[in-house]
Amino acid sequence: MCLSSIQKVIILGATGHVGPHLVSIFDADPHFEVSILSRASSDCSQFPPHIPVYRVSKNYDTSDSELVEILRGQDAVVSAITEQAIPQQKVVIDAAIKAGVKFFVPSEFGHDTMNEQAARLLPPCYVTQKRQIVEYLQTKEVDGLKWTAFVTGPFFEIAVPHFLLGSDFQSRRATIFEDYGDHPWSTTTLDTTAMAVKNALLDPTKSANKYLLIESFNVSQNSLLSVLERLTGKKWDVSLQDSEEEKILAVEKLARGNFSAIPTLMRYVTCVEGYGGDYMRYGQKANSFLSLAEESLESSLEKILE
Ligand SMILES: NC(=O)c1ccc[n+]([C@@H]2O[C@H](COP(=O)([O-])OP(=O)(O)OC[C@H]3O[C@@H](n4cnc5c(N)ncnc54)[C@H](OP(=O)(O)O)[C@@H]3O)[C@@H](O)[C@H]2O)c1
Repeated sequence: MCLSSIQKVIILGATGHVGPHLVSIFDADPHFEVSILSRASSDCSQFPPHIPVYRVSKNYDTSDSELVEILRGQDAVVSAITEQAIPQQKVVIDAAIKAGVKFFVPSEFGHDTMNEQAARLLPPCYVTQKRQIVEYLQTKEVDGLKWTAFVTGPFFEIAVPHFLLGSDFQSRRATIFEDYGDHPWSTTTLDTTAMAVKNALLDPTKSANKYLLIESFNVSQNSLLSVLERLTGKKWDVSLQDSEEEKILAVEKLARGNFSAIPTLMRYVTCVEGYGGDYMRYGQKANSFLSLAEESLESSLEKILE
């Protein structure tokens, strides 16, 4: 198969947060023939009825012969598998190679997983395990399997109302790091993330074997807050936090097995300098290469406020 003609794309994780966006964006482009890879135990009610769904009888942690048969004939696998199952992608990668698949997009879609400080702070599934999957893909380049990983920062629609400004968005309260309130970072909408993947596969030779860094918006906590105050026509209640104190409390909470600390740690690695949330400061922006449209921060925030 010529790499420039990826047409048959199978999407894994189509019932998650990002998966449905990937399915609908690939489905809307007549160049692609899209199908879904799912577990037999999964609820299929959310799948568009016209898209073929292939089911594996178990999770992706067992024998791959069934998977090889499903993947045969596919040109690319796009994985949006849950964080809890990131290592299982190795089984899918091995099966993809046996089936002759030429391209694999791993389930990254978030923080810059090359950042060592973030890797030390966050649980392995958010950074370390994702990076290990890219390293695994790198070892498979000799087998003809190419890959692209997408660094998106937090998903705008999920992260703004849930953790980037604290957890009290509905009551118009914002929690701001007093020492990093003006520090800029990147965030990407779900549709732009999906569009980036689709456009990368339209030109796979140029996209292959690299991380692509994208963003919808480059903002800070304070710049976001000021647009929100303008749009809502009122001053929000603001609590100022010391970032280091919040980090220490969250790390202690996590050590006790309390995963409610994750949003604080996500806010920390996004907003605090040195943890990779500001990846456009040192990385190359792939937006124009991927023909991603400009987005309006105001309109995107208005949608969230609705
Ligand atoms: N940047 C951000 O703000 C952000 C936010 C959320 C997620 N993400 C990233 O996006 C990617 C996808 O996350 P998501 O939240 O969309 O995923 P999710 O909703 O947790 O799950 C995605 C899919 O994974 C499959 N799955 C679930 N449990 C599984 C298991 N135990 N074994 C195998 N497969 C399983 C399911 O597909 P089937 O049921 O069809 O098998 C599920 O629909 C991850 O890499 C995540 O880190 C980023």
